Amino acid sequence: MRIAVPSEIVAGERRVALTPESVKRLVAKGLAVSVQRGAGAASLIPDADYEAAGARLEPDAASTWRAGELVVKVRAPTPHEIDELREHAGLISLIAPFADPDRVYELARRRGVVLAADLVPRTSAAQMMDVLSSQATLAGYRAVLLAAEASPKLFPMMMTAAGTIAPARVLVLGAGVAGLQAIATARRLGAVVEAFDVRRVVKEQVESLGAKFIEVPIAEDGAAAGGYAREMSPAYQAAQAELLGAALARCDAAITTAQVPGRVAPTLITADHVARMKPGAVIVDLAAEQGGNCALTRTGERVVTDRGVLVVGDTDLPSQLAVHASQMFSKNLEKLIVHLVRDGALHLDPADEIAQAMMVCRGGVIVHPRVAQAVAQARKELAA
Ligand code: NAI
Repeated sequence: MRIAVPSEIVAGERRVALTPESVKRLVAKGLAVSVQRGAGAASLIPDADYEAAGARLEPDAASTWRAGELVVKVRAPTPHEIDELREHAGLISLIAPFADPDRVYELARRRGVVLAADLVPRTSAAQMMDVLSSQATLAGYRAVLLAAEASPKLFPMMMTAAGTIAPARVLVLGAGVAGLQAIATARRLGAVVEAFDVRRVVKEQVESLGAKFIEVPIAEDGAAAGGYAREMSPAYQAAQAELLGAALARCDAAITTAQVPGRVAPTLITADHVARMKPGAVIVDLAAEQGGNCALTRTGERVVTDRGVLVVGDTDLPSQLAVHASQMFSKNLEKLIVHLVRDGALHLDPADEIAQAMMVCRGGVIVHPRVAQAVAQARKELAA
């Protein structure tokens, strides 16, 4: 089986799906790998390293896509890339199937197996294959550095001859993978950190990182299956808004990471909340791509309010750390490929939870029930 790695074409995307280290191990397992010339350049990986690892270099995108019996990439394919995908070829990449059902419909028409890297289940068995977790870790770290860089204040406490400077206050909303890394990073920089999450089980993890957990005094828990959250009742949401308003008014930086999979991100920070924040405060909204946790977030943009609060809606935080983001993405993908490919072909066992959870299309059919439902709904709306 020949695996193909095209260059990423989404503007600003610097990651590459496989690094030479992974290519070398896959080649040693008997797989053939084609890499588009320059695919690793933005992650500082020269073509020569791929060649030395045993890959065949392809001169351009068209020849790379044509070579691939299994194409692996980072970002969800664009319409042009879907046209390039060979009939019956396999594809593993982020797909964002709920954000763009039309893309899934078009992918299905290529009749191959489409495996969404964003649907890898969050189980111990799949941990090493979970690109969302590895990339969210990087995003959490990067978000705090962006906030520190943009803030006109110091993060650590400093006792100097020129006086004592109080540490910055950082508020982290959503203490999942990205949020916990944001807490750890802000603590390393010396900030005083508060965090909030609807899942009470994370309280202990938040506290073990040295942050204070904000508790809503209503007995309701947001934990749902698979370590994700569910939506909360209106009463809970009102009490939460009140508490968060006060925490936002006292913080210097807020990192928001709240998401419920497959849904638009919950709005946790309203325009009123922002109006009560300190001038110079920074909000880094990691949920920008899913609509944002802050009402003022503009996806992919940075906006400053009249009162001088900066709202960062960057959607490429892992890509800003391209070297390690590619390294981690590639390691996850390599484990997935080793798991899924047997005797030179994709082996999609009905009893394999990982394969079943991430398989979106097969042989021209959208086989993932929830995705199929989303696609049917979107097409019905289009027809209406
Ligand atoms: P996760 O699912 O591990 O964590 C999300 C957390 O939000 C969960 O702990 C959940 O309980 C919590 N949550 C849900 N609803 C909430 C609410 N109403 N109030 C408070 N907490 C709530 O997700 P992960 O992997 O940490 O990702 C977080 C976000 O970061 C996602 O939106 C993801 O797409 C985004 N992300 C953004 C990147 C960027 O470049 N901007 C890069 C990577 C991830």
